[in-house]
Order: sequence, then structure tokens, then C-alpha cells
Amino acid sequence: MVDQLVSKVRTGKRQSLKASRLAFGSLMTKKWRTSTDPDITRINSDVMAGVLRLYHENFTEINDRMFTMYCRFFSETCYAFLDRGKVVGYCVFFVKPVFSYSHIYKTATLYSLAVDSEYRGHGIGERLLRKGIREMKLNSVSCISLYVSTENMPAIRLYRNLGFRILRELDDVCGPGLKCYEMDMKPGQNPV
Ligand SMILES: CC(C)(COP(=O)(O)OP(=O)(O)OC[C@H]1O[C@@H](n2cnc3c(N)ncnc32)[C@H](O)[C@@H]1OP(=O)(O)O)[C@@H](O)C(=O)NCCC(=O)NCCS
Repeated sequence: MVDQLVSKVRTGKRQSLKASRLAFGSLMTKKWRTSTDPDITRINSDVMAGVLRLYHENFTEINDRMFTMYCRFFSETCYAFLDRGKVVGYCVFFVKPVFSYSHIYKTATLYSLAVDSEYRGHGIGERLLRKGIREMKLNSVSCISLYVSTENMPAIRLYRNLGFRILRELDDVCGPGLKCYEMDMKPGQNPV
């Protein structure tokens, strides 16, 4: 009984810490400076159903609540690629603060990226990521990180092309029993 209570309090504390970090990160995207790409829009309620369709088609570890929460908190850094009104790709970044002795830095994580299987190999994934990286640079985000399965060669090649480097290999982050790479890049040093 006491153990359960302690565990609940601990979980509650972790969740409220996470929520306050999210809220802080979201505040850091106010007055966000944008770049234009005529085919890319921000993820809003008009395109959410199409984005969720792609999310479900491409991933097995589904968490709709988390996904839509990131899209709502980080409306400035969640992008959808449209072809004649149809959502054919999306990428979702969230921004979080990193506190140092004298500064608060902005860092970002690529939370999810997918392109409709019928539209792959035409540069859509690259355009979505380039837009994100360009805006991170414009808004002084110091680092973008991501996790990718070590077997996902198309995605790894795409990330490498855009200047991401592998930091380390980890277990169970991309799904139970899966090995993945943690990768990162510094938008300020990238000629996007
Ligand atoms: C990864 C993904 C987003 C790439 O989207 P895409 O629009 O097809 O990618 P692009 O056409 O922009 O390709 C850009 C680069 O990615 C790499 N790439 C893309 N598809 C590839 C493939 N099938 N094999 C090898 N490399 C590939 C190439 O380096 C390519 O550049 P190049 O053609 O000049 O060599 C897409 O394959 C996808 O949605 N996969 C399923 C979801 C997923 O794995 N998401 C990433 C999770 S971390």
C-alpha cells in the first residue's frame, strides 16, 4: 500500500516535471521566426487526421495522446507536406530548455518523421527536415537530436546527408528489443 503510494507520487512528480519542461519548451517557440516552402504547412486541426493516418501506417509503437500533445504544444515546429491538399509527409520536433550555469539554451528533438510510401524517394523527407533545420538555425536552437533504429537505412542515410552524426548505440529506445542510434547535429554549423 505504502509502496504503491510512493510509486504514484514519484510517477506524478516525473510527469509534472515533464509537463513543466514541455510548457517551458513551448514558450521558447513563441515569436518563432519562419522560413517559407509553398508545399509545407504547420500541423493544425485541418491536417491532423492526414498526419495521424501516416503516423499509424508507419509506426508500431503508437501513442496518439503524446503525438497530438506535441503537435499542440509545438505548433511552430511541426510540419506537414501537402500534395494538392493531401498530407503526404510530416515531421514533428519538440523544443526543450537546457540549463547551464549562465545560460538557458534551446535544443530540439526530432520526435517523428514519415513520408507516404507512394511518395518516397522524391525528396519530401529531405525538404521537411531542411525546413525544420533552417528554422532551428534562425531561432538559435543549438542542437537537434533524434533516435533511429540501426536497421532503418533510408532514414540513417537521409540524416547523415543533412549533417547528423551518430553519437552512440542504445537499446530499447525505438521499441522493445530494438537497437537504435542517437544522432545529433548543430543547426548553426549547417549550411542548410
Ligand atoms: C525515411 C523517410 C522519411 C525518407 O523519406 P523520403 O521522402 O523517401 O526521402 P527523400 O526522398 O527526401 O530522400 C532523401 C535521402 O534519404 C536517403 N534515402 C531515402 N530513401 C532511401 C532508401 N530507400 N534507401 C536508401 N536511402 C534512402 C537517400 O540518402 C536520399 O538522398 P538521395 O536520393 O540523394 O541519395 C521515409 O522512408 C519514411 O517515411 N520511412 C518510414 C518512417 C520512418 O522510418 N521514419 C523515420 C523514423 S526515425
